[in-house]
Amino acid sequence: MKNTVLTFAKAKEEGVKLSMLTSYDYSMARLVDEAGINSILVGDSLGNVMLGYEDTTPVTMEDMIHHTAAVARGAKNALIVGDMPFMSYQTSVYDAVVNAGRLIKEGHANAVKLEGGKEVCPQIKAIVDAGIPVCAHIGLTPQSINAFGGHKVQGKSEEAAKKLIEDALAVQAAGAFAVVIEAVPAKLAALITSKLDIVTIGIGAGAGCDGQVLVYQDMLGMFSDFSPKFVRRYAEIGDIMRAAFKKYDEEVKAGVFPAEEHGYKIDDDVIARLY
Ligand code: KIV
Repeated sequence: MKNTVLTFAKAKEEGVKLSMLTSYDYSMARLVDEAGINSILVGDSLGNVMLGYEDTTPVTMEDMIHHTAAVARGAKNALIVGDMPFMSYQTSVYDAVVNAGRLIKEGHANAVKLEGGKEVCPQIKAIVDAGIPVCAHIGLTPQSINAFGGHKVQGKSEEAAKKLIEDALAVQAAGAFAVVIEAVPAKLAALITSKLDIVTIGIGAGAGCDGQVLVYQDMLGMFSDFSPKFVRRYAEIGDIMRAAFKKYDEEVKAGVFPAEEHGYKIDDDVIARLY
């Protein structure tokens, strides 16, 4: 069954937890989808884990559309959320609606995600008014890395915690169907979750959120540039891949691969006539 925003609303009502993982291409989206994950986020984290940038700020709309469309071809049941890259919505409400529309029309996403609280509520409202579901994202918002001065836990002081609660309520009032809460103390994220009617999706925000999201390279041990404290490694696929690549390298160099069964046949007399 296809997951939709209604699935999310029902899960909140019934207290059923939701799973979300990132994907950036067709093959991975198929695997994630087949595992029954509720939602695939085509995150602008692709700037880090797929494109090798230091942060997400260089990611473009073209990058996001290209990868979201590939994911959409691979996922049948997961709700596909396309991330709006840096400066695709901050510049104006008009830009926000046009670019959200492109992620739906050209990327075939089911919803879009954008970072920020109160300050992006006019954009959220306008995108929702255009018939596009919006997932908000508060707490540590990586597109603001230069303003934060690094990847830091958010909402630890009373003032910062109050602002996060206000932001969460504001994005809900603007029409968001869900909100990602990143790198926020677990008790605060649980409190925010209890105050909202919409789903909270945590990443580094404890078990009290309505759902969880992780970057797949982090949870599979495929990305070692940095490893946030909140990641659980469900497998060490990076080690498995490295070992397989090494074996392939050895076998190619030893002439062991390809073996006879990997080749195509031709009649010997055809070959003989070529000499
Ligand atoms: O871009 C992304 O993958 C994200 C998640 C970390 C929530 O925004």
